[in-house]
Amino acid sequence: MIKLVEKLYETQNLTDSELKSLITAEDGETAYQLRFRADEVRQRVYGKKVFLRGLIEISSYCRNDCLYCGIRRSNFSAERYRLNREQIISCCENGYKLGFRTFVMQGGEDAFFTDDYMCGLISEIKEKYPDCAITLSLGERSFESYKRMKEAGADRYLLRHEAADGKLYSKLHPKELSLENRMECLFSLKKLGYQTGSGFMVGAPFQTADSLAADLRFLQKLQPQMIGIGPFIPHRSTPFAGQTGGTLELTLRMIGILRLMFPKALIPSTTALGTIAPNGRELGLQTGANVVMPNLSPVSVRKKYDLYDNKICTGEEAAECAVCLRRRIESAGYEVSEERGDAAV
Ligand code: 5AD
Ligand code: FES
Repeated sequence: MIKLVEKLYETQNLTDSELKSLITAEDGETAYQLRFRADEVRQRVYGKKVFLRGLIEISSYCRNDCLYCGIRRSNFSAERYRLNREQIISCCENGYKLGFRTFVMQGGEDAFFTDDYMCGLISEIKEKYPDCAITLSLGERSFESYKRMKEAGADRYLLRHEAADGKLYSKLHPKELSLENRMECLFSLKKLGYQTGSGFMVGAPFQTADSLAADLRFLQKLQPQMIGIGPFIPHRSTPFAGQTGGTLELTLRMIGILRLMFPKALIPSTTALGTIAPNGRELGLQTGANVVMPNLSPVSVRKKYDLYDNKICTGEEAAECAVCLRRRIESAGYEVSEERGDAAV
C-alpha cells in the first residue's frame, strides 16, 4: 500500500477503490509511510507550528438525541449545567493569559443561547480581545442565526457532518435530524464567510470503509478550512454502550489521509484520541494534525460535559491542561504558536 500513499502524496487524490484499500491497510509499512508523508506535508505548509484553541464547554443541555452522545436528551442520568456570561468571560481571561488567541464556545443545542444572547456575548469578547478569533460549535441553527452571529464578530464554526453516507447517518441519529439539513448548514456557514470545520467519528457503529470513503468525498466537496476527527468511544448510558470504539490505528490512518488530501487544513489532535491512548494526541500531531484544543472550562463542570466514557482532563489536575499540552507538543517535536492560527491560503 506504500504506492497508494505515494500517489495520494503526489496527487492529493485516489480512486474510490484505492481509497478504501488505504483506509483498511493495517500493515506497519503503510502506517510508517503515511506518517512520514503526512508530516512532510504539514511541515511544508505549517512548519512545526501547533495552534492552540481554548475550548469552553458552555452547556450540557441538548435538545437532540444523537445515539452515540452522552449528553443526548434521553440520557436522564446526565448532569446538566450552563455557564453564565461571567463564567464564560472569565474562561477567556484565563485563556488569554495562557497565550490562547482562539476561544471555542461549544455546547449542546441549548435553546437558552438565543441569537440575541450569543451576539451580545460575541461582541463583548471581541471588544475585549480584538486580536482573538471566536469559534462557535453550537450545532444546527438557522441561516439567519449564523448570519447574525457572524456579523456580531464570530470567525469560525465547527459542525461535524458526522456521516456523509445517508444510511449510516440515520443509524446514528434520531429521525428528526437529517443529513440534508446538516449539509445545508455547512454550506450556509461557508457562504457566510465562516472558516468552517467539519468532520466525523472514526469507528462509529455500523461504519464501513465505504462510509469513511464517502466522508472524504464529502469533505472534498465542502472544502472546509478545519477537519476534526476522533475515535468513537462508547458512553455507558447511551444505546451504543455495548459497541466497540474506534481504534488508534484507524484514527491515525484517517488523520494521515486527511493531511495528504487537504494539505492546508487545520486538523486537531483531539481529546478523544488522547482518551483511547496515553500518547494519542502526540501521535496525531506526528501524523499530520496541527491543532490542539486545551479545555478551558471551569474544573467544576468538566465531568458534566460527558460525551463519552473516561474522557481525560476532567479531574482535579484539569486546571493544568494548558501546561500539560504545551509539554506534550514540545515532546512530540513541535512548537506552540502564539498566533490566531487561521488556515493557510
Ligand atoms: N465518542 C466520540 N466522539 C463523540 N462525539 C459525540 N459523542 C461521541 C462519542 N461517544 C463527538 C461528535 C461531536 C463532537 C462534539 O463530539 O462527533 O460532533
Ligand atoms: Fe488536560 Fe493533559 S491536556 S491534563
